[in-house]
Amino acid sequence: MIDRIEQLIREAEEFQSAEPESIEAFRIRYLGKKGILNDLFADFKSVPPDQKRQVGQKINELKSLVSKRVEELKSVVKKSNKEGSVPDLTVPGISLRSGSRHPISIVRNQIIDIFTRLGFNISEGPEIEDDWHVFSALNFPPEHPARDMQDTFFIEKDPDVLLRTHTSSVQVRVMENSQPPIRTISPGRVFRNEAISARAHCIFHQVEGLYIDENVSFADLKQTLMYFAKEMFGDQTEIRFRPSFFPFTEPSAEMDISCKICGGKGCNVCKYTGWLEILGCGMVDPNVLDYSNIDSKKCTGFAFGMGIERITMLKYEVKDLRLYFENDVRFLSQFSAAF
Ligand code: DAH
Repeated sequence: MIDRIEQLIREAEEFQSAEPESIEAFRIRYLGKKGILNDLFADFKSVPPDQKRQVGQKINELKSLVSKRVEELKSVVKKSNKEGSVPDLTVPGISLRSGSRHPISIVRNQIIDIFTRLGFNISEGPEIEDDWHVFSALNFPPEHPARDMQDTFFIEKDPDVLLRTHTSSVQVRVMENSQPPIRTISPGRVFRNEAISARAHCIFHQVEGLYIDENVSFADLKQTLMYFAKEMFGDQTEIRFRPSFFPFTEPSAEMDISCKICGGKGCNVCKYTGWLEILGCGMVDPNVLDYSNIDSKKCTGFAFGMGIERITMLKYEVKDLRLYFENDVRFLSQFSAAF
């Protein structure tokens, strides 16, 4: 019952009108003989005694809110009528509820902000891609399981048209179209054939990073990502690298940050390890440079890729991925942004 009353309070708060008829209809709907409040008072009789106090308070809150709202709206109408047909410019405006940015946009903008401060530019590529840009030019062998229909949404086969499974495809497009020095990040949507659950979705967002120049080393990669982690998760954040494998980087690593919830002591978010995985990275494989006509004898580079949903989950402690896609205002309005 409390939920229902709270919903009614929200509706009453949001009600707006400058039309006397609809203000009256609003009043009757709530305060009329057969109105919502009388219904609530009738239901009140069957509320268990231990809840009566709380429910009673809520009903009264609703009642006085509706009366106040009706008076407010009526006085606005009255004031504007007094002046005849000349609008009264001193009448207070009807306030609109302003929206807030989506948490994924907030975090994406924050990531962009951090890397642009380091001199990275932003590049974008198509969501509908071909095999070359998503797999072959990134050194995926022909029999690699990621090429399988199980993981990839194919639009056509032979020639392959598919939805990109990662934003690493934008790396390839940037390398094809420019020569080093390259310093770019590529935020975007990616698609994978996954069953939707709290921990997986078939659409999500990634940011890819690429830095190619002469003498770029793993130390540059570490320094860049350490700066990112501290800016994103706070000064106290520590990072660690674990060896890993990706076809397009050699050596490859996964980067963890110290768990910001327990400070590294161990809790259920970090599964008692003290660390949280946030991205994959590595030195660009010379084959990948050569495929895109960048001289691998002269240049080296690093790349990294992270999931925006994952970073957002860690930053805001969101437990269920599906919330990002449901457009429930109660979830979305909890985020406010400087970005
Ligand atoms: N493309 C990888 C993925 O979707 C993420 C990734 C890992 C990107 C390592 C990179 C990298 O650029 O070096 O899982």
